[in-house]
Amino acid sequence: MGQYERLLVAPVGGCIGAEIAGVDLRDELPDEVVAEIRRAWLDHLVVFFRDQPLTPEQFSAFARRIGTPGRYPFVPGLPDHPEIIEVKKLPRETVNFGGIWHTDTAYLPRPPMASMLLALTVPPAGGDTEFANMYAAYEALSDGMKGFLGGLRAVNSSALADVSKTREDRIADATAAGHQASESYESVHPVVRTHPETGRRSLYVNVAHTARFEGMTEAESRPILQHLFAHQSRSEFTCRFRWAAGSLALWDNRCALHNPVNDYHGHLRLMHRITFEGDEPR
Ligand code: OGA
Ligand code: MN
Repeated sequence: MGQYERLLVAPVGGCIGAEIAGVDLRDELPDEVVAEIRRAWLDHLVVFFRDQPLTPEQFSAFARRIGTPGRYPFVPGLPDHPEIIEVKKLPRETVNFGGIWHTDTAYLPRPPMASMLLALTVPPAGGDTEFANMYAAYEALSDGMKGFLGGLRAVNSSALADVSKTREDRIADATAAGHQASESYESVHPVVRTHPETGRRSLYVNVAHTARFEGMTEAESRPILQHLFAHQSRSEFTCRFRWAAGSLALWDNRCALHNPVNDYHGHLRLMHRITFEGDEPR
């Protein structure tokens, strides 16, 4: 972990996550500050900022300093900012968007490099998000398991039941607003991927999207996948972020999972989200 000259970077867990202070993301940031934010993000996998009440323009402008904003296939963006989607749970709803351990849209051929969430309204308590370090999950596997997984690829699908239900309310909104129902997506990716920027290996399966190993049946794959799903979310690989309005999180989808905790029924939670275009996992 490097030293930072322009930022205060305080780890939030022993293994993943850091809070960054000393920067106002509404400012036009010098390149050196953006470079330090990116370095902290690569070191810590997810970085958090507090008290950043960004307008959609400011949120998008900051995003363009980090990467190329992309599109999410299932929910249309804001009318003036198609790159921003609302992630919300209404007081009457019981299911939260993405409410399962996952990395974003792993079923796409080029899944997003990163995602960013900005909190607008948060419940009085609860609604935290957990993050897990998939370098650490990979490194903690036995040599035998690393060898077995090393050559494998897995089928990732958008249509698995547990995750599909977490987006139903938002798809219903989109359909009511005249958007046509989305298709489903499937992509085959390596089970162990190498991060294109850090060169480190990480475990790239997740319980929301990974259906089976390529060349194997679901029944054959399931016991090993279930072991990996339990292993990868062990608490020593995680951190947990308590949101306030104006909190912003930027995570690396190539080496981290996240899980929004659904413990705030009866309250509104509203976030703005931007995802960034990424590479084909290798
Ligand atoms: C997401 C997601 C997490 C949260 O937007 O990709 O999984 O905390 N949301 O709402
Ligand atoms: Mn997500």
